[in-house]
Amino acid sequence: MADGFSLNDALSGPGKPNPQGWPGSWGNQPAGAGGYPGAAYPGAYPGQGPPGAYPGQGPPGAYPGQGPPGAYPGQGPPGAYPGPTAPAYPGPTAPGAYPGPGAYPPPAQPSAPGAYPAASPYGVPSGPLNVPYDLPFPGGIMPRMLITILGTVKPNANRLALDFKRGNDIAFHFNPRFNEDNRKVIVCNSNLNNNWGKEERQMVFPFESGKPFKIQVLVEPDHFKVAVNDAHLLQYNHRVKNFGEISTLRISGDITLTSASHTMI
Ligand code: GAL
Repeated sequence: MADGFSLNDALSGPGKPNPQGWPGSWGNQPAGAGGYPGAAYPGAYPGQGPPGAYPGQGPPGAYPGQGPPGAYPGQGPPGAYPGPTAPAYPGPTAPGAYPGPGAYPPPAQPSAPGAYPAASPYGVPSGPLNVPYDLPFPGGIMPRMLITILGTVKPNANRLALDFKRGNDIAFHFNPRFNEDNRKVIVCNSNLNNNWGKEERQMVFPFESGKPFKIQVLVEPDHFKVAVNDAHLLQYNHRVKNFGEISTLRISGDITLTSASHTMI
């Protein structure tokens, strides 16, 4: 896999789910020990700081939409905010996994317009945001749109869900379940005219109760592509093709939501 990020890395790949979870067609590698946060591949990014503490403490531009240290409103110098209790977000696991600053225009729509008027130039507010949270897509979704969700799973979590909605229909339901008959599973499905379709299930389960996470959903022409903590997880072929009418992402479940944003890559 290429060392540097390229659009080919981002956009190529098979149109089928990746049952192993990695290596992904984003050019990612699996997260390090335990799949977590911060501990993976320290120093993997030449010239960058230690991985992982969000907001503002991580390496600049490891993810689209993420500002450099100190870019957040009211934030002190790198490392000064928000203090030792801040969740350490998953660090980057592989060089070039996602575009850095300069590779693409500064992105991101604020997830809570008006709520953070002094948001960084990158426009990403930090939470917590109330859950369920609706992230609007005023013009719908389109290929190359990248949605990034940062949060922390609550202790003893049962479920979380992302629902890409077209009116009352759910074009893409992404539903990690922490205890379905004592197993962890991610269920994906669509709900059309109040009917659930055929489930697509993924046993690779990168979420952990009490731990921070990053979910990235990249819209591709034929499917949604999902990465968690910088490792490719699965793809979900589009069942709803009216992209322009998929105008909301509802984020729900047993999480603390820190930010939700989208950008184009
Ligand atoms: C149902 C569940 C829904 C949704 C659906 C997906 O059993 O009640 O919330 O997850 O499965 O197929």
